[in-house]
Amino acid sequence: MKRLKSMERPYKGQMQQRCHIIQEYNLVPSTQILFKIKHTDVPLSYYTGILGMAGMTAYAGFFEVGSPKKGENVFISAAAGAVGQLVGQFAKLTGCYVVGSAGSKEKVDLLKNKFGFDEAFNYKEELDVNATLKGYFPEGIDIYFENVGGKTLDAVLLNMRVHGRIPVCGMISQYNLTQLDGVTNLANLIFKRVKMEGLLVNDFYHLYPKFLDFVLPHIREGKVLYVEDIAEGLENGPAALVGLFSGRNVGKQVLVVARE
Ligand SMILES: NC(=O)c1ccc[n+]([C@@H]2O[C@H](COP(=O)([O-])OP(=O)(O)OC[C@H]3O[C@@H](n4cnc5c(N)ncnc54)[C@H](OP(=O)(O)O)[C@@H]3O)[C@@H](O)[C@H]2O)c1
Ligand SMILES: *[C@@H]1O[C@H](CO)[C@@H](O)[C@H](O)[C@H]1NC(C)=O
Ligand SMILES: *[C@@H]1O[C@H](CO)[C@@H](O)[C@H](O)[C@H]1NC(C)=O
Repeated sequence: MKRLKSMERPYKGQMQQRCHIIQEYNLVPSTQILFKIKHTDVPLSYYTGILGMAGMTAYAGFFEVGSPKKGENVFISAAAGAVGQLVGQFAKLTGCYVVGSAGSKEKVDLLKNKFGFDEAFNYKEELDVNATLKGYFPEGIDIYFENVGGKTLDAVLLNMRVHGRIPVCGMISQYNLTQLDGVTNLANLIFKRVKMEGLLVNDFYHLYPKFLDFVLPHIREGKVLYVEDIAEGLENGPAALVGLFSGRNVGKQVLVVARE
């Protein structure tokens, strides 16, 4: 059997190397990564997002790695995306003050008016993200849910609070760069005793049943919402994938191959 090499290290960047792999068989090494759907009353597409990898990533990254407490200050980048929109809603359910950044006015409106973030801003319009964060977090950030890396991370490091946590979920701003951005403010980790910890969702699927118990009632009661951006047809897959890097997607990018 052939194995899909990229499955072993999906976040190492160099996405373009993956596109020419043609595959007939795949050896699934663990039932924890692929599992059979016990479909209930929610839309089937949710299993690609909120009830799949994105949901597990948000849940594990925020609750397991972030260790949130009621009343804490939470900042989320790529906040309108597949993972970010959920982290923000989980943080509000926990009783946190929540601010998100995203790349358009439409997304900022969505964060504030649909997902219940306390504040949100368009990072593309901010010349000085450090100053912007000082404005939203005069007392500092307890949890930064990291999705983008680069300049945003550097500005956040100036604004962390003592004993803050940074779950490092992704660094999408760096994936397609040949010259990576430097991060200059890491010494703040020392002064502020901040814990910065990377996570891979694959390590957390043992929590999937617990996650379903938590999230399904919230979905049914309308307390957790999920926005999907649906592209139709396999031929539109490549453009949808590349669109993630320019923020073309609003919410979870889903590709419909065929309808039932
Ligand atoms: N560790 C894990 O196990 C794990 C699992 C799943 C996902 N991830 C990571 O989590 C992050 C979010 O994934 P997702 O699936 O939820 O994607 P997503 O947020 O739905 O889509 C990516 C978004 O990133 C933003 N973006 C793209 N280029 C950017 C840049 N240069 N600077 C700032 N923002 C940029 C865009 O939104 P804007 O319009 O706001 O710019 C885009 O919509 C990614 O970094 C991904 O690699 C990690
Ligand atoms: C960050 O912003 C604050 C408040 O505006 C300012 O006092 C501080 O000097 C800034 N730090 C850097 C490194 O720009
Ligand atoms: C990635 O970088 C290459 C080389 O600089 C560029 O040609 C390509 O358009 C970039 N792709 C995306 C999705 O930004």
